[in-house]
Amino acid sequence: MGFILRAHHHYNRGYDRIATRLREDFAGSAAVACAWVAMDENHRALAVDNHGPTLRWAQRYAHRTLGKRAEDLHLVMSDVVDIAPPLVPRVDAVAALNFSALIYHDADDLKHYMQSARRNLRPGGVFVMDFFTGFKTGSTRTRITPDDPALPPFVYIWEQRALRPRSRRIDCRIAFEVGRGRGRRILRGFRYDWRLWSAEELVEAALGAGFDHADIWGKRYNAGLGFRSTRFGPLPRAGLGRLDPTGDNAVFYLVANRR
Ligand SMILES: C[S@@+](CC[C@H](N)C(=O)[O-])C[C@H]1O[C@@H](n2cnc3c(N)ncnc32)[C@H](O)[C@@H]1O
Repeated sequence: MGFILRAHHHYNRGYDRIATRLREDFAGSAAVACAWVAMDENHRALAVDNHGPTLRWAQRYAHRTLGKRAEDLHLVMSDVVDIAPPLVPRVDAVAALNFSALIYHDADDLKHYMQSARRNLRPGGVFVMDFFTGFKTGSTRTRITPDDPALPPFVYIWEQRALRPRSRRIDCRIAFEVGRGRGRRILRGFRYDWRLWSAEELVEAALGAGFDHADIWGKRYNAGLGFRSTRFGPLPRAGLGRLDPTGDNAVFYLVANRR
């Protein structure tokens, strides 16, 4: 939330504009949209996803966490490119998180999505999407103990299975390991067919889609102090070519602004 507010503020210095409306694309559980509404009584959010059962879960989650304020969150079942003003109100920020916009493999499809995100923005609005560099095949295992005592502990398995170097198409999976010993079972969860876009390609796509500014936000290295900042901020354009998609593992954000 702080990141979205900071990004909006960054491109609106000198204007009397405060971000109150958020749209979460590829919303899934709509956790970001719910947190946005919960943050301030003036906040409103729209969450868009094309999967009905997931949205129904999101609706129950919103009622549980927001109570009466759930009326300030609108869940819409649609492809993200098919729902835009005047069907829905314009917003101050469109967020496409958890690498969701990496589903576009083709530069024209990515640009088409960004054009549609831009159409949803008020003047001064920002589009925020995350992406990562540093694909290596392999898997990581994280043991999770849910807060809800009715749910058993399980292992969350994130697997980076394959990269096709020419198309930069990657195959990632999520699985869950439940039980122990002879009762141990692996539940296959999600499969992601993504493209590993580079920082420069994303900036180019955003500018091509009509945004007035497009920056890559990352954790900056402060040469004077000799360490990497823990806060995200816009990186110098000149260094973007060195962010190799298959180099070091790190998360970045594309932040694009409409004047
Ligand atoms: C990687 S999940 C991210 C969910 C959520 N943003 C999060 O961070 O947990 C991607 C979500 O995008 C939805 N989705 C995929 N393609 C879509 C599309 N073209 N339009 C709308 N939703 C889409 C899927 O149903 C899924 O819920």
